[in-house]
Amino acid sequence: MRLDKFLCDCGFGTRKEVRELIKKGGVQVCGAGEGQPGKAVSDPGMQIDPEKVQVSVNGERIRYREHLYLLLHKPAGVVTASSDKRERTVMEFVPPEAAHRVQPVGRLDKDTEGLLLLPDDGELSHRLLSPKRHVEKLYEAHLSKDLTREALERLENGVDIGDGEPTLPAKAEMGPADAQGRPVLYLTLHEGRFHQVKRMAEAVGSEVLYLKRLRMGPLSLPEDLAPGACRELTPEEEDALRSAAGLREGE
Ligand code: URA
Repeated sequence: MRLDKFLCDCGFGTRKEVRELIKKGGVQVCGAGEGQPGKAVSDPGMQIDPEKVQVSVNGERIRYREHLYLLLHKPAGVVTASSDKRERTVMEFVPPEAAHRVQPVGRLDKDTEGLLLLPDDGELSHRLLSPKRHVEKLYEAHLSKDLTREALERLENGVDIGDGEPTLPAKAEMGPADAQGRPVLYLTLHEGRFHQVKRMAEAVGSEVLYLKRLRMGPLSLPEDLAPGACRELTPEEEDALRSAAGLREGE
């Protein structure tokens, strides 16, 4: 493959940006296993085999990845969109060199916090959102009013939220109250309808006052990832996610 494509795939910016990086002498290439960091190269169109050569940027070795998967702890107060005329968006928390290539998977409301995945892989996003795959999402909802056992059973069996079809079977359990004494509901859904958690809470006579997504498929919101912080998935998380989407080798 071309060296400039390799660098774009690895998240070093647009074609124009990586060509500039190469022109400035910031990219070195050497045979795998040779002493590092190799010779600075000047041709962005140089053909390389990522299996056979070692590419370094400013002396640091690069591991080839075709895709970029970012995990953001979405803070409240920003909309889940690539751009918006009036509102701040989640993109302000994404490293600038990655912002042109990643897209959020699904949507969290402006006032919802928590795990948001931003990959540059349309096929993966499509599969994770497909109703057919039923990828689980776990939410923590702080409520205005406690729920009875009967209300929890209704949430689990499916409730009418006003769009014709009852919700799919879900898992609903109460946890300890929050610091302000508000009841906390843990709700695991296998679908992603508009304002679904809020509408489900309303359907059983309560109201969501605070909402956070804790898990999506095999990915959990890392405890050490502060609101507004964003990081790449680890290779293990990436494998688990691709597997959940049915995208492992040979699938
Ligand atoms: N359900 C909601 O009501 N809001 C969200 O942001 C996500 C799920």
